[in-house]
Amino acid sequence: MAKERVYIYKQYERFWHWTQAFLVLFLALTGFEVHGSFSFFGFEAAADLHNKAAWAFIILTVFTIFWHFTTGEWRQYLPTTKNLKAQAEYYIFGIFRNAPHPTRKTVLVKLNPLQRLVYLSLKILVFPVMVFSGLAYMFYRYQSNGSIQSFELASLEKIAWAHTLGAYILVAFVIVHVYLITTGHTISSNLKAMITGWEEIESDVDDTSQNQDPLKPQKKVISEIPEPGKEDLKKNNFPPNPSKKT
Ligand code: HEM
Repeated sequence: MAKERVYIYKQYERFWHWTQAFLVLFLALTGFEVHGSFSFFGFEAAADLHNKAAWAFIILTVFTIFWHFTTGEWRQYLPTTKNLKAQAEYYIFGIFRNAPHPTRKTVLVKLNPLQRLVYLSLKILVFPVMVFSGLAYMFYRYQSNGSIQSFELASLEKIAWAHTLGAYILVAFVIVHVYLITTGHTISSNLKAMITGWEEIESDVDDTSQNQDPLKPQKKVISEIPEPGKEDLKKNNFPPNPSKKT
């Protein structure tokens, strides 16, 4: 199949992605030290660094929300059930049998249905929980008129619980994410694309032009995410047929 070199990740997108990746890892490192899991910076320094990185994360998030809405890129995260099952089956079975990818990446549809669901959950659930529980942690007790005031919170226990659970979810996400990065057309193609912005993708879908308005044809393109050819699937015994030896 013909391949085309396409500029898929814009400059801000790559800056945001790598800065966010660094901050999440750094917040995990310092946060789990505050949690008492290990000692590296020392408790006080870890707490201080955690707070500073948290503010950097909040500022980055504000700019990135703005970027998503001004560029229309937020539409990339609209959830769809189309091909969701096929994508999950691909990751569980097909990938180990060299089955074809059930969905195709294009400039207008960068995320497969499973990625859409997971990234959307991070954006509207996990990150807000981390930010608000973290801010509650920060400002639970504050100085006012020379005395210590506190929020109307029975205790910090539930907040600490939510913040720590979110931290475990993010660490699990990072591990799975790093593995899935290697499952593109070649082992390094996804990584290279997020570094350089350019990726080689199959070009038989005519929506890869740089000049198209990302807002307009989105719906049409989603509905055109091609199903893998029946022959391709049969050839690769996908979904797996236990009676057939591969
Ligand atoms: C912008 C978002 C965040 C804010 C505002 C924030 C803020 C805080 C604050 C104020 C603390 C308490 C530190 C202290 O006791 O001095 C804390 C603890 C912690 N944070 Fe964050 N944090 C954020 C994001 C994250 C992320 C992304 C992770 C992990 C990936 C994380 C992991 C942790 C952990 C594990 C603890 C220890 C919790 C405990 O033992 O109760 N935080 N965070």
